[in-house]
Amino acid sequence: MRSTRRGFLGSCAVSTAAASVPYFFSTPRSLGVETKAKNDRVTLGLIGAGSIANTNIKEAADWIDLVAIADPDAGRRESFNAKFAGGKAAVYDDYRKILERKDIDVIHVATPDHWHTKPVVEAMLAGKDVYCEKPLTLTIDEGKLIRKIQKQTGRVVQVGTQQRSMFNLFVTAMALVAEGRLGRIRKVQAAIGGAPASPAIPVAEVPSALDWDRWLGPAPLADYRFFRAPETVDKDGKKKRPPANTNCHSEFRWWYEYSGGKLTDWGAHHVDIATWALLLDGQTAGPTSISGTARHPVEFKDGMPVQHDRYNTATEFLFTVDFPGGTQMIIRHDTDNGVLIEGEKGRIFVNRGKLSGGPVDELKDHPLPENALAKVYKNLPMENTARKGHWANFLHCVKTRQEPISDVHSHMKMLNICHLAGISARLGRSLTWDDAAERIVGDDQADAMLARPYRKGYEIG
Ligand SMILES: NC(=O)c1ccc[n+]([C@@H]2O[C@H](COP(=O)([O-])OP(=O)(O)OC[C@H]3O[C@@H](n4cnc5c(N)ncnc54)[C@H](O)[C@@H]3O)[C@@H](O)[C@H]2O)c1
Repeated sequence: MRSTRRGFLGSCAVSTAAASVPYFFSTPRSLGVETKAKNDRVTLGLIGAGSIANTNIKEAADWIDLVAIADPDAGRRESFNAKFAGGKAAVYDDYRKILERKDIDVIHVATPDHWHTKPVVEAMLAGKDVYCEKPLTLTIDEGKLIRKIQKQTGRVVQVGTQQRSMFNLFVTAMALVAEGRLGRIRKVQAAIGGAPASPAIPVAEVPSALDWDRWLGPAPLADYRFFRAPETVDKDGKKKRPPANTNCHSEFRWWYEYSGGKLTDWGAHHVDIATWALLLDGQTAGPTSISGTARHPVEFKDGMPVQHDRYNTATEFLFTVDFPGGTQMIIRHDTDNGVLIEGEKGRIFVNRGKLSGGPVDELKDHPLPENALAKVYKNLPMENTARKGHWANFLHCVKTRQEPISDVHSHMKMLNICHLAGISARLGRSLTWDDAAERIVGDDQADAMLARPYRKGYEIG
C-alpha cells in the first residue's frame, strides 16, 4: 500500500517519542578523560560573538576559559566580554590576533557562513583545534581545502551539528538503522522550512561600532542595509518590537552572498542525519545527480541574484537526489521539520521533539543491544547530551586526539549535497555529479560554482 508522509505522521499521532526509548543521558560535566581541575581547563578564543556564541559559550562553560573575543562589531565583543568573561578577556576587531597567541588552545568560530573557512583553515595552520558552527563552508571547494588542511595538520575540528549528540532522538534513530531494524534504506527525506521573504530593505548608515568592511570580508562589497518598522502597542498597552530586516547580523542567512539559505542553514542539520543514515546502512557512495525546483523572491542571472535590496534565498524548494542502486534523498521546504527514513522493513521519523515509527514501537519488546548507541557514536563518551554533549565530545577529542562525532570529512559528504541543491536552485536546472572527482559533469557554468572568488585583502592565508 502506498502511504504518504502525512499519512505516516498521522498514524504516529501518539508519538512514541523519547520517553519510550530506553536510553537517557543526563549526567553532566565529565569529559570522560579526566576531572576538570583548574589547570585541566582549556583556554578558548572566540571568533564571532553573536547569537549562537551566547548559547555555545554557556554550554561549554564547565570546561573552558574564555580569554579572547574577536568581532568586527565593538558593541557585540564588549558586551560578550562583560557577560561571559567578567570583562577580563582580550577583545579584537581582527581575529588573526587570537590565532597569534600561544596561550590559546582551542578556537570557536561562530561567524556568518561566508566567514567560516578562512578562520578555520588559518586556525588549523596556527596549531589550534577548532569547533566551527555549521554549515562548515559556503562552497564545495572550501570543503576540499578544509579537509586537506585537517589531514595535513591533524587538528581536531568539530562542526556544530549538535543533532549528532542528541542521544534519545537522532543517535537512537541511527542505531536503529545501523542494527538493521529498518532493513535496507531506500529513501530518506529531509523536511526543512523555506527562507522568509522580506520587503525592500533600504541602504542605511553603518552603525559606528561596526567594521562593515571586515564583516563583509571575503564576500563582494555591498551596501549595509537595515530597516525596522516602528514599535507597535496592542490594545492592552503591550509594546511589540518588530524584527529587523538587514543583510547583516542574524539575517545574513537569507542572502546567497553570505549563506546558502535554508538549504544549508537547516540542511546542515537534517540532510546530515539523512546522509548519516545512508552511511550507517553501508551506502557510502555519494550522489550521482540532483533535480528539482526552487522559488526565489528575486530574479537570477548566471546563478546569482540581480536585485540586491531584499532577501534572495529560496523560499520554496523540492529536490530529489539520486544515489547508486536507486536510493533517493528528498529535500523539501516543509513546516513539518524532520527526517523520515524509509527502509524495506520499516520507517521512522525523527526531529528535535520526537522519534516515532514501527521500529521505535518495537523497542519495548526488542530493545537495542547495550552498545548500539555507542557504536554509532564512535565509542566516545556520552555523559552529556545535545549541545552540551557536542561540546563535551569536542573537548574530549581535543584531549585524546580522536576524531569528533561531527568531523569535517563526514560533514562535507553531506554539505556537498546541500551546496549542489543550492547551485541547482540558483541555475534552475538538474545537475550530474561525479562524487569521486567532486565535480559537476557536463555543465561548465555549474561546475564553476563549486568555488567563489575571495575579495582582495581577504584571501586565505
Ligand atoms: N548549530 C546550531 O543550531 C546553530 C544555530 C544558530 C546559528 N548557527 C550558525 O552559527 C553561525 C552564526 O550565526 P548567528 O545566528 O550567531 O549569527 P550572528 O549574526 O548573530 O553572529 C555572527 C557574529 O559574527 C560576527 N562576525 C562577522 N565577521 C566576523 C569576523 N571576521 N571575525 C569575527 N566575528 C565576525 C558578527 O559581527 C556577529 O556578531 C552561522 O554559521 C549559523 O549557521 C548554528
